[in-house]
Amino acid sequence: MSNQPSAAASARAFVPANRVRGFGTTVFAEFSAMALQYNAVNLGQGFPNFPAPDFIKRAAQEAIEADLNQYARGAGQIRLVNALAETYGPLFGRELDPLQEIVITTGATEGIFATMQGLVNPGDEVILIEPFYDSYSPSVIMAGGTPVYVPLRATEGTRRASEWWLDMDELAAAFSPRTRLLVLNTPMNPIGKIFSRTELAQIAALVQQHDVLVLSDEVYEWMVYPEPDGAPVEHVRLATLPGMWERTLTLGSAGKTFSVTGWKIGWAIGPAPLVHAVLMAHQWIPFTVATPLQEAVATALEQAPKEDYYQWLATTYQAKRDKLLVALEDVGLTPVRPDGSYFVLVATGHLPVPVPEGTRRDVAVARWFTTNVGVTAIPPSPFYSPDHQYLTDNLARFCFCKTDEMLDEAARRFRAKLG
Ligand SMILES: Cc1ncc(COP(=O)(O)O)c(C=O)c1O
Repeated sequence: MSNQPSAAASARAFVPANRVRGFGTTVFAEFSAMALQYNAVNLGQGFPNFPAPDFIKRAAQEAIEADLNQYARGAGQIRLVNALAETYGPLFGRELDPLQEIVITTGATEGIFATMQGLVNPGDEVILIEPFYDSYSPSVIMAGGTPVYVPLRATEGTRRASEWWLDMDELAAAFSPRTRLLVLNTPMNPIGKIFSRTELAQIAALVQQHDVLVLSDEVYEWMVYPEPDGAPVEHVRLATLPGMWERTLTLGSAGKTFSVTGWKIGWAIGPAPLVHAVLMAHQWIPFTVATPLQEAVATALEQAPKEDYYQWLATTYQAKRDKLLVALEDVGLTPVRPDGSYFVLVATGHLPVPVPEGTRRDVAVARWFTTNVGVTAIPPSPFYSPDHQYLTDNLARFCFCKTDEMLDEAARRFRAKLG
């Protein structure tokens, strides 16, 4: 018998590393494929399907024309970090050091990953408030950390995202001597809740009491809508609360802000030692981020205030949100009115959907929306840990970051099948 290794790889060769073995594919892969198969209106995955603003597209074209094609500065193009310091300095109420307090990441998703790699040691605990953007827990796990889950609570039939609450006793009980970090997301995907100043102050008090850090994911910072009576809803940046700048990293995303999710440009802003830790990980993850797109985002940030862009964005999304809310209410569905983000949760308990053995109800309902109504939703259970997934059995998530034509077509299909 030859002692040469066999040319055919053994089964063992194909076994993924332990750190990823437990991961499934994202929920978006299944539902986007299903939307295509059934020719459904895809209100599942949250990416805008309308054109990005001309001024940002032109800026990217000009950056490529100017041959800005080589590696960028590791922590981010100087022009972009300067533009971010200009933009966020007044929002954080402090002068920002563009060279030490800002790092550009490959979208906020890499900001999350690099933060965990840079700040979480194996055995550390990271508190995640449920429901959460689904990259949080894999990022914690790949850093060797342990996610500790605290679900938001809501009463059945709640119609306002702001009525979902964080039980502060439950949150307090989640801290331990091993807690390193808490992840906050406001405005929140998938509920559309914006944490109030009072709630944030309570979170801040616990975080300070236990001497832990916060990753504040604020990628939907500009998608904030007024109360029905027109009163403004305030998006409070956690880092502006007393004693919080020192222990908070705030994430932003050009993808969300300028409707260019495929560009994957994000940023982390915070005190120099925290930004340095993120940078130490970031330099070995992507090394640097796409140079011409960073330049284009710098231009966009410089021009946005002159174009009244942020106000336009909020007003545009508010109209789209209202269109979707009306379409859902018209056919007797009960949406949870979001104050921010571009998602709407909808109560589905009354829908007569058969649930196959071994399938979560929210997954069956989301599939049913695609196959029977022709409009794709996302089940919210992947935004929860397994123990808490039952909380979403009677919910589906739709997004409204789509053209008016697409939202109108969804409304027609709702009326045809559910009206
Ligand atoms: C809460 C939240 N954070 C981060 C991201 C990802 O941001 P980016 O596209 O910049 O990686 C998303 C995208 O859906 C999100 O919902």
